[in-house]
Amino acid sequence: MPDTQHAAPKQGITDEGYLTDSWYLAAPSTDLVAGKQHRIMVLGEPVVVGRTPKGEPFALRDICPHRLVPLSAGQQLETDGEWTLQCPYHGWRFGTDGGCKLMPSLTDDSPYDLSKVKVRRYPVHEANGAVYLYVAHNPRSDAPPAVPPPEFGPLPDKPGFVIHDVFNAHMDDAVVGLMDPAHVPFVHNQWWWRPPSVGLKL
Ligand code: FES
Repeated sequence: MPDTQHAAPKQGITDEGYLTDSWYLAAPSTDLVAGKQHRIMVLGEPVVVGRTPKGEPFALRDICPHRLVPLSAGQQLETDGEWTLQCPYHGWRFGTDGGCKLMPSLTDDSPYDLSKVKVRRYPVHEANGAVYLYVAHNPRSDAPPAVPPPEFGPLPDKPGFVIHDVFNAHMDDAVVGLMDPAHVPFVHNQWWWRPPSVGLKL
């Protein structure tokens, strides 16, 4: 009989079949306006993505650890020289590193240690007109990403056009059905697609 109680925990994939320890597209760069933020869904989880007034992109879990209010409904304010996102309910402020920087209800002589309060922070990377975020398998991990961010080579800073849509699809369906990698070396090297004069493409 299989030992289902002591099965090794899965790494790199969620119970729903989403790939973790991977980079995902958060937004085209132009969608992140300085000083603003908005909510997206990533692997079934709410994430607030935004850009500080200094131009730094950030991504945090869009659930305040206090009473679960969406941080995306808050506003960005400066706190002791750094940009923070303020929760709209009780005003807790979180830095782009996910750490709590201010609780308005705390008195100056309170011994409470703010550094104990954190919201999940996703590493971000901006290149070629897009912002990517990294989803670690362990939501509490502070380790740097296990794989480098996507690198598409020397693309222009600003893409000529962007197609933006949300597909409700399992990863297998997305890769096999949408991109269908197996067709590329066959179809894209055919004479009617890519004439011999331009050379074959690997
Ligand atoms: S719910 Fe966010 S500070 Fe209370």
